[in-house]
Amino acid sequence: MLDVKSIRKDFPILEQDFIYLDSAASSLTPEQVVLKEMEFYRGYRANVERGVHRWSQEASEEYENAHEEAAKFIGAPSKANVAMLRNTTEGINLVANSQDWKKTDKIVTSVIEHHSNFITWLRVRQRYGTKVDVVRCDTEGIFELADWEKAIDDDTTLVAVTHVSNVLGCIMPIKEIIEIAHEHGAKVLVDGAQGVPHIETDVMKLGVDFLAFSGHKMLGPTGSGGLYIAEHEIPTTEPLCIGGGTIADVSIDDYVLAVPPMKYEAGTPAIAQVIGLGEACRYLTKAGMKNIEEWDLKLANRLLDGLSEIPGVEIYGPKDPKQRVGLATFNIEDMNPHDVALTLDMEYDVATRSGHHCALPLMKELYQLNQGNVRASTYLYNTVEEIDHLISAVEEIAKS
Ligand code: ALA
Repeated sequence: MLDVKSIRKDFPILEQDFIYLDSAASSLTPEQVVLKEMEFYRGYRANVERGVHRWSQEASEEYENAHEEAAKFIGAPSKANVAMLRNTTEGINLVANSQDWKKTDKIVTSVIEHHSNFITWLRVRQRYGTKVDVVRCDTEGIFELADWEKAIDDDTTLVAVTHVSNVLGCIMPIKEIIEIAHEHGAKVLVDGAQGVPHIETDVMKLGVDFLAFSGHKMLGPTGSGGLYIAEHEIPTTEPLCIGGGTIADVSIDDYVLAVPPMKYEAGTPAIAQVIGLGEACRYLTKAGMKNIEEWDLKLANRLLDGLSEIPGVEIYGPKDPKQRVGLATFNIEDMNPHDVALTLDMEYDVATRSGHHCALPLMKELYQLNQGNVRASTYLYNTVEEIDHLISAVEEIAKS
């Protein structure tokens, strides 16, 4: 079980009189991560892989250690399989731009995807005429595997699917979807933005081909994230950008790219952020991902129980808390969700997110919600008391 009281001490920002329920947008950062970044700026602030002097050597070592940590955190065999990028969006775009798309190819995705894992594929369709098929779910966000079996066929080259919906909090059956895809020779890209921070993720056990994730949603600095690329995909996966740092050799009329992950990290990288992300992985590993999952479930239970008892409140996503992470979206009758979120902030000192949450296809197809909804999302530092405060606040707003 998590020792939430002691975890909270690592987040001095929580001493403010404010309840932070917006971790699905961006999590908070513990002191350990802040100090690790500061250590770089104060102790050995130099460029990586470009200098023989001691600061550059130390920076390079820490930078490489961070890769190792991130690789270990997601179960990747080596740091060569994890390109450090700015965020999940950049990872998805790397995959979209690195493949040799044809008109006869087919991409299968789902209706609940974040725009980053949706419009990217619509753009591939616009550019190359590639077919895009969108799998639908019921209004709780539950998918039938039969629908994936129907959509994925021998023409399918890529299945792009999220692990956890950033709106419904529902956990997708990615293992089964990956199996179906591989039976047809299709590759699978998992959007791990909401999954990796909350659910123990092992890319080898999943057998996934690509997995993109964001550091800033898992206690790391903003501008940090990664893309796991399976060994067999590395030779055919082109970098998004090339330039300094990505080469093994250059001559007047040719170049040879460096070995991964360097071939994917053009220019001076986000050194401090990557080192910070490594520290965030250490922190989460120490806290224990299974403990985090357990705590998530407890908070999800409380959120759903409390919100579902308030007259006039509609909750979106699975009714069973076991099928979701600690995240709930809701509306209060016909109130504008932005007004609700603003009232929660101004009168009750609670941070939530409101609107379409970058998932307009979901909002339009599943619920016909023009203004979207309100989202409360938790992480390992949130308490049951904070959830209760939110529930009482929503109750009062609903009554007023
Ligand atoms: N993708 C982030 C969210 O869901 C920003 O809020």
